[in-house]
Amino acid sequence: MNQPLSAVTFPDDGCELRIIDQTRLPGALVELALTTLPEMVDAIQSLRVRGAPALGVAGAVGLAVLAERAAIEGPATFDADMATAATALRSARPTAVNLAWAVDRVLAAGQVGGASPTVRATAMRTEASTILNDDIAMCARIGVSGATLLRSGMTVLTHCNAGALATAGIGTALAPIYTLHARGETIRVYANETRPLLQGARLTAWELDRAGVPVTLITDGMAASVMRSGVIDAVLVGADRIAANGDVANKIGTYGVAVLARHHGIPFYVLAPRSTLDPHTPHGDGMEIEMREASEVRAMGGVATAPGHVTVHNPAFDVTPAALVTAIVTDSGVFHPPYHFTA
Ligand code: MRU
Repeated sequence: MNQPLSAVTFPDDGCELRIIDQTRLPGALVELALTTLPEMVDAIQSLRVRGAPALGVAGAVGLAVLAERAAIEGPATFDADMATAATALRSARPTAVNLAWAVDRVLAAGQVGGASPTVRATAMRTEASTILNDDIAMCARIGVSGATLLRSGMTVLTHCNAGALATAGIGTALAPIYTLHARGETIRVYANETRPLLQGARLTAWELDRAGVPVTLITDGMAASVMRSGVIDAVLVGADRIAANGDVANKIGTYGVAVLARHHGIPFYVLAPRSTLDPHTPHGDGMEIEMREASEVRAMGGVATAPGHVTVHNPAFDVTPAALVTAIVTDSGVFHPPYHFTA
């Protein structure tokens, strides 16, 4: 039996942010210990740590680690160091709201009037640990709530990776699957490979297979015919940001999967912790969608798959309109349309 995965951890001494390097999967399961701001920003931007909840936890723990170090330097530079670090971490990736949300929480926890940097860093460390532990608990609750929408024997389709590797716990979209699997129920998963970076193939298929959950990997273009064949009972996806009206930003390709699900009469469920809700953004048009390097589309594994000069369009996420979402599952329960998320 494999150990549960811990995508982001915070050792008790508070001196480092530990992550599984997801760029090495599925070939190697390697942990990295990050101690400096450039290392943390690079790990986030290069997707060594990724997935909205995991990004939030990494940002929180990262800032707490930097606070411990800044406290040693003394009060003269503490505020400036924390402001610089928070800005860099918060903006390392723009779409997943969890990252800014968690960094701001840890920064605010350090605003202890008149206290020494050491005391302030301790408060920040406590807040980061709370965010990490809350994420684990939220995933578990999403699993229990999401499982009420499924039955033993069902087959679900998922896109990208919203499993343990995308969180500190058992995942979001994959949480109900792990919950039912742990109860001895049979749930089968079709995983879209998720071009261009193959999170579905490299991460979802890997972690489900490792956990003993039956998984079938398909290329993204196969989803339509698989749905038409009648084999898929439900679609489960995660989210990087959910607007007040229920519009959902998630990995590029999710919108197409939602359209296909509607066409085939298959329920389309979005699962995410409350930290992914963005009630201050009224609808999806106001969400910043990260644009990534053309090289991610022109090549795979370092091998050219297109002319080197061809123009590329590479948004990392798309927005699925709330009208296509059958229900949104958070750690507070199952929400049905119309959605009105408030602060
Ligand atoms: O670019 P990534 O890998 O950070 O994308 C995030 C995702 O994996 C998702 O879009 C996911 O479905 C939501 S996060 C649980």
